[in-house]
Amino acid sequence: MNEMIQVTDTATQPAANDDSLPTPQRAVPMLPDAQTVTQVTHWTDKLFSFRITRPTSMRFRSGEFVMIGLMGDPHPDTGKQKPLLRAYSMASPSWDDELEFYSIKVQDGPLTSKLQHIQPGDQVILRPKPVGTLVHDALLPGKRLWLFATGTGFAPFASLLRDPQTYQDYDEVIVTHTCRTLGELTYGAQLIEDVRSNEMLEELIGDSFAAKLRYYPTTTREESLKMGRITDLMRSGNVFEDLDVPPLSPENDRAMICGNLAFNLDLKALLEEFGLREGANSAPREYVVEKAFLD
Ligand code: A2P
Repeated sequence: MNEMIQVTDTATQPAANDDSLPTPQRAVPMLPDAQTVTQVTHWTDKLFSFRITRPTSMRFRSGEFVMIGLMGDPHPDTGKQKPLLRAYSMASPSWDDELEFYSIKVQDGPLTSKLQHIQPGDQVILRPKPVGTLVHDALLPGKRLWLFATGTGFAPFASLLRDPQTYQDYDEVIVTHTCRTLGELTYGAQLIEDVRSNEMLEELIGDSFAAKLRYYPTTTREESLKMGRITDLMRSGNVFEDLDVPPLSPENDRAMICGNLAFNLDLKALLEEFGLREGANSAPREYVVEKAFLD
C-alpha cells in the first residue's frame, strides 16, 4: 500500500528564527494534538505496529481511521514546519485504553521513512476525528461476515476482531489475509491467536466465540500451506471448498474489504457478481470497502 500524505498547514510551527519568541518555546516545539508512543513492534523489515496514548475524550467505532503523523522537516528558507499526516486505520478496538496502528515502512516515503524510527516516549500527531466505512453500522444483519485483507489492510480487522459486537452479530466470521510472504502474515496470525484466547471475549460471548472465528491466510510469492490471491481462490471456488461454506449470497453473507487499491476494486467487482451491494453508514447493505485510500 503506497503512502498517501496529506500535508496541512493548520498547525504551522513558529519559525526557528523568530526572535520574538521566548527561548524555551523555540527549543522544545509543541506538537499539535500530541500523543505519546507507548510500544513499537517491528514485524519485518517493511512492517511495524505501534501503540500510543488515547485522548480521554476520543470515541470511535471499531474499524474507523484517523489522520496521524509527525512534523515535517523545517522549510529551508522560512524554517517553518508542517505536519505530515496520513490516514491510518485504528487496529485497536474501541474499548482499548490505548490506540494501536499497523504500518508499512517505505524507505523514501515522506512520513513512514521517519515514523518507522519512533520509540516509546516519542510524540506523534493524532487528529482525533475518526471516520470510516468499515463499521458494523454500514452492513445489514447477516449470518456470515467475511473480512478480506491484503498487506497492512489487516489493520481495521484487528480492531473489529477484538470487538465483542463482531461475534454477537454473526454466526461465523471468516478472515482472509493475502500477503506476498509468510513474514507479512505474522502480525495477523498472532492477533488471531490472541483473540482466540481472549478471556474478556470468552466471558462476554461464551466459549463458542472462538469457534466462530475462521482464519484463511494465503501467500502469493513464498511457499505456504495455501497459495494464491484470494480473488482467484474465490473465482475457482477453492476457498469455499476449503472452508466448507457455500459461495457468497446476498441473503447470508456480509463483507468488508481492505487492501491495496487494485485489490479493493477487483474484490468489489467480484462481490457484485455474487449479488452483494455496497453499503454506507447512511445506507447499510451487504458489503463495504475501505475509503481511506480511494478518495
Ligand atoms: P501478488 O503477489 O500476486 O501481486 P502488495 O504487497 O503489492 O500490496 O500486495 C499484497 C498482496 O495482495 C500480494 O499477495 C498480492 O499478490 C495481492 N494482490 C495485489 N493486487 C491484487 C489484486 N488486484 N487482487 C488480489 N490480490 C492482489
